[in-house]
Amino acid sequence: MKKTRVLVLAGGQSEEHEVSIKSARNVLEALPKERFDVTAVVISREGRWLAPPDSARALANGTAPSGGGLVLSQAASAEGFDVVFPILHGPNGEDGTVQGMMKLAGIPCVGSGVLGSAVCMDKVMMKSVLAAHRIPQVAWTLVTRSEYARAPEQVLERVLAIADGSAPAVFVKPANLGSSVGISRATNEVEARAALRLAFEHDRRVIVEAATRHKPRELEVGILGNDAPEASPVGELTFASAFYDYETKYTPGLAEMHIPAQVPEAIAAEVRSLALTAFRVLDCAGLARVDFFYVEQTGELFLNELNTMPGFTKTSMYPALWAAAGVSYPALVARLVELALERR
Ligand SMILES: Nc1ncnc2c1ncn2[C@@H]1O[C@H](COP(=O)(O)OP(=O)(O)O)[C@@H](O)[C@H]1O
Ligand SMILES: [Mg+2]
Repeated sequence: MKKTRVLVLAGGQSEEHEVSIKSARNVLEALPKERFDVTAVVISREGRWLAPPDSARALANGTAPSGGGLVLSQAASAEGFDVVFPILHGPNGEDGTVQGMMKLAGIPCVGSGVLGSAVCMDKVMMKSVLAAHRIPQVAWTLVTRSEYARAPEQVLERVLAIADGSAPAVFVKPANLGSSVGISRATNEVEARAALRLAFEHDRRVIVEAATRHKPRELEVGILGNDAPEASPVGELTFASAFYDYETKYTPGLAEMHIPAQVPEAIAAEVRSLALTAFRVLDCAGLARVDFFYVEQTGELFLNELNTMPGFTKTSMYPALWAAAGVSYPALVARLVELALERR
């Protein structure tokens, strides 16, 4: 039987460059060699595509060297592949750009297509679609950089008014990032000004959200499939910090995974059901990790976000959720490649 030729893309220009390389290394190792012929191309932090031998070195070292590599137009005309597995997080990878390039090249891609990837990358677009489908979420407002420059006092008033009356705090986030970069919690006008200034360093679109009334429990669920997707058991992340910030995310040992989450069965069922609805209305495919806030004190459940290319190392939440459902890491990656081929 002819082997399926898989191109794994890793690295990239996001904050999650190293995480992506680690994930790619695990995927490469796991794809059954008797069925798949796998090549890795690592994208450097400057956005240059390294030739396979240089990519292999970058994978071994855990990061791409600066300089060298091909620019995109040269890389796009490289040899033929049956399917691309873009293990890239954030802008220029998870946002529909690579998906669009592969669509033009006629190569199936693991995960969501152009529309689903692009909509989910922008928190404002994602939350607008979820609102249209009445999926519970915290209150939020969009602020653009130019609007804030024009009328800062009015914007500040609107931003602070988003807070829930009994616990006046807001989360200020760049619309387009991920990995908690540029995110702050603000409880007064001075903090809100600093939070907006920081968020606008990363994006010209910023979302301001009402903080949940109490520190929420953070529940996550994995989705796998195309037109008849399935939901994994629900997992929970716990940590000591005030919120799941950059340091907590990327310092080993600061956060703990619990699978299954110890929550009432009705809450777990609601998480799975809302996640499947979100996956469908956002036009996702292949895989997604859907993150929720569960406010135990009030019983409220909010959908926070949907990641179309979640962390994929052997110890990441998404593969761990499927392992709990009896799907091993190698079986999971092979299934994702099959799902991409099925979609063509
Ligand atoms: N509205 C909110 N209420 C309470 N906590 C929040 C809220 N928004 C974000 N957080 C905290 O900040 C973390 C990062 O926010 P998130 O929107 O998931 O950003 P990212 O896309 O960078 O992961 C969350 O996991 C949670 O700990
Ligand atoms: Mg998050």
